[in-house]
Amino acid sequence: MLSVSLLAAFPDLVEHALDYGVTGRARERGLWRWRGFGLHEFANDARKSIDARPAAGGPGMVLMAGPLDRALTAAREWHGAAPTVVFLSPDGAPLTQPRVRDFAQAPHLCFVAGRYEGIDQRWIDGNVDAVVSLGDYVLSGGELAAAVVVDACIRLLPGALGDNESTAFESFADDQGGWLDWPQYALTVGDEPLPLGLSGGDHSVIQRWRLKQALARTWRRRPDLLARAKLSLEERALIDEIALESKA
Ligand code: ADE
Repeated sequence: MLSVSLLAAFPDLVEHALDYGVTGRARERGLWRWRGFGLHEFANDARKSIDARPAAGGPGMVLMAGPLDRALTAAREWHGAAPTVVFLSPDGAPLTQPRVRDFAQAPHLCFVAGRYEGIDQRWIDGNVDAVVSLGDYVLSGGELAAAVVVDACIRLLPGALGDNESTAFESFADDQGGWLDWPQYALTVGDEPLPLGLSGGDHSVIQRWRLKQALARTWRRRPDLLARAKLSLEERALIDEIALESKA
């Protein structure tokens, strides 16, 4: 069972976010467990302070090492062994699917959510194994970012999804980056007609349709992924077709 802990000013923000769908069912089935450690509970003064003015001056406040130290000790005791400590910050390396796969192998993931101007760098240097960002934008705290990373990890745990194969063909399944998913259409009656490549039911035609749609979507939305991918001859030919069709 994967243990997930969160050290945060407001761990309750995440408490129920993961009670639903795949992550909720996985928790009910005992694939993972969760514990939030609210930093205010680990303050050691009457005002329950968790932050202080930045030593370099400037606006805002910085989370202090003391409450974080004590919260981390409590998280370690809860699980019984040292965790992999992941700090959520816009200053981190962008999260990728291979990174998520690595995290999902750990026995205990401890997420640390920043607030205010950040966390004392001495604490980060001494305790953090990975600094992760969700993207080039700034959230008001790391709690919701932690929930996103936990969700991405849990769905990879064996038994979390109904069909274990269903993570193999999705966007970013490939370690080189892969490409985006093809568009999905619900098989219903009486709706608008399906795209041409899907309506005949011929397996090889549908396979080619899927591949071309995935490549076309990636070509339009994420050309950076295509530039990194190792393409087969068929894939190259399809991209030429897509480029020609886009000019028509
Ligand atoms: N905390 C604040 N902004 C963030 C971001 N973009 N990614 C991860 N954690 C954050």
